[in-house]
Amino acid sequence: MNSNISAPDIRERKHSENRIVMVTAYDHPSARLAQQAGVDIILVGDSLGMVVLGYPDTLQVTMADMIHHCRAVSRGADRPLRVGDLPFMSYHVSREQAVQNAGRLIQDGGMDAVKLEGGIRMIDRVEAIIQTGIPVMGHIGLTPQSVKAFGGFKTQGKTLQAARELLADATALENVGVFALVLEGIPAELAEVITQRVSIPTIGISAGPSCDGQVLVYHDLLGIPEPAPYRFVQTFSHAGQEMGEGLSRFVQAVRAGEFPSREHAVHLSDSVNAALKRMGGKHTCG
Ligand code: KIV
Repeated sequence: MNSNISAPDIRERKHSENRIVMVTAYDHPSARLAQQAGVDIILVGDSLGMVVLGYPDTLQVTMADMIHHCRAVSRGADRPLRVGDLPFMSYHVSREQAVQNAGRLIQDGGMDAVKLEGGIRMIDRVEAIIQTGIPVMGHIGLTPQSVKAFGGFKTQGKTLQAARELLADATALENVGVFALVLEGIPAELAEVITQRVSIPTIGISAGPSCDGQVLVYHDLLGIPEPAPYRFVQTFSHAGQEMGEGLSRFVQAVRAGEFPSREHAVHLSDSVNAALKRMGGKHTCG
């Protein structure tokens, strides 16, 4: 039987040929499917806001949203490491706020670790959370909570100066003790340099093939609701199309009177049925 995967297990994978596989999940069935598929890490990402809650970005997602979905995921999977995302404005105000909210994702959400966005500018908060004994995953590059500052979902680290800053962010996060680092939306060459430079595993999304692991958003990789429009996503199934076709078949079957059939119902015994039918013609009250 496979044992549960811990943050130190993931940290150790830096020295292994075995690439780390992380996928997002937001509810009980998606967590169960991810666990059955053998992923190493389930991330309850704040991408929740975009792929499940219908927002244009992640900025509306609250701690209450995150805890609600973390709890469902924690009931669906216990073998992969379960990482909860700290949403926008849940760690930006102070170190105290960051520690309290990280603690809520563990205590109330049932997570094993937390992730937050930002490098040097967030370093005091990352350090404070780690000092409480909560493992932290870093996240730099195209950090979606800064979408308004970036002026859109744009690749980061394309100039030498920007690349140097991201390298400094990665090193700072490594030095305070994050167990792994997400590199999102940066050129492949920069991701390769960062991966070679740091002693912790890097997990890439739109960051090329050289990272120690890869992460994709559940709905994007499964093609829900339809094939994802992004260059960095490969659609590994057409689940969205199949779901749509299944729903259409249901609509047609109900309208045609083909569902439910006799086998889909519970039936009375012949004697009770006959008695009921006799009663059906009589008015027994009033
Ligand atoms: O919220 C999320 O899904 C993420 C991943 C894309 C890394 O942060």
